[in-house]
Amino acid sequence: MSTPRLLPADSGIAEAASVLRTGGLVAFPTETVYGLGANALDARAAARIFEAKARPSFDPLITHLAEAAELEKLVGAVPVAVAALAERFWPGPLTLIVDRPTVIPPIVTSGLATMAVRVPDHDAARALIAAAGVPVAAPSANRFGQLSPTRAEHVVRGLGAAVDVVLDGGPTRCGIESTIVDVREGRPVVLRLGALPMEALADAVGPVVVRPGSSGQPVAPGLLAAHYAPRTPLRLAAAAGPAVGDGARRGFLAFRGRPVGEWAAVEVLSVAGDLTEAAARLFDALHRLDAAAVDEIVVEPVPETGIGRAINDRLRRAAATWH
Ligand code: TXA
Ligand code: MG
Repeated sequence: MSTPRLLPADSGIAEAASVLRTGGLVAFPTETVYGLGANALDARAAARIFEAKARPSFDPLITHLAEAAELEKLVGAVPVAVAALAERFWPGPLTLIVDRPTVIPPIVTSGLATMAVRVPDHDAARALIAAAGVPVAAPSANRFGQLSPTRAEHVVRGLGAAVDVVLDGGPTRCGIESTIVDVREGRPVVLRLGALPMEALADAVGPVVVRPGSSGQPVAPGLLAAHYAPRTPLRLAAAAGPAVGDGARRGFLAFRGRPVGEWAAVEVLSVAGDLTEAAARLFDALHRLDAAAVDEIVVEPVPETGIGRAINDRLRRAAATWH
């Protein structure tokens, strides 16, 4: 199998930017997960993203900007509520919903009248977007429904030569996708739990509503009940009980303590019980358990607070694929 060109995230920027400008696909690190980028002004380039990920055309992309000031240039007048959140949290793991400007081709937003947009808090990502000189449409750089990539190796393994260039910036800092918020109706509605904790949002804007992640209503298909899944069957277990002695090889994903019993593979997210560390390690640990040739992965939920809510959200959706 041929592989994409792997370039260092610092010295590879100019070359990667020219690939973007000429309609190619560049995977790049952000503070959340690796994105699979294309020129958001180019419908053909955006179409290649859907093809590379085997992503259904109804699942819209997030447009990435190098600077918050670019938003006004792209959409014209920015609604006050959007501007306030952008001012407070950009660059950062917050995606905001705005009206789609006509320069953005409908394929990027899957035909929606709205567009998701964010400024990533990552030097290489912003340098890449600035050097390309265009907004960059980028979903997470994994095949649709599978585990998100937090390392360049995950991207290479998952997408292979479907991507032209992978910028390697090492492991991503947050490890969980951005929080998606819609403030168009006044009251902020969280469409996807993510790396920006609800508590931080509520501090800034007061009470926020979380749209229940009911399946079958793909306003944000990251909210589809089944998503973020390893290839190995995955099950949530409230406590780390011993593995059933039926000869099956099982892997265990623990929050902070090692489980009792015979496990073929164990990953501990944070010995210190730190949810931020746990989030940063989540997908990497799941990628490793998925590669460990076990028959089943058993996962312990984490405390339902701060970024822990987004971690549990991802675990529930991963488990839903198998039930
Ligand atoms: O952290 C992130 O957000 C990463 C990095 C690369 O920026 N990107 C990411 O993209 O997670 P993706 O495509 O894996 O998830 C984007 C989510 C999808 O669930 C999509 O349905 C939702 O954003 N979305 C995109 N445009 C939308 C819109 N106009 N309205 C509501 N949801 C939207
Ligand atoms: Mg994704």
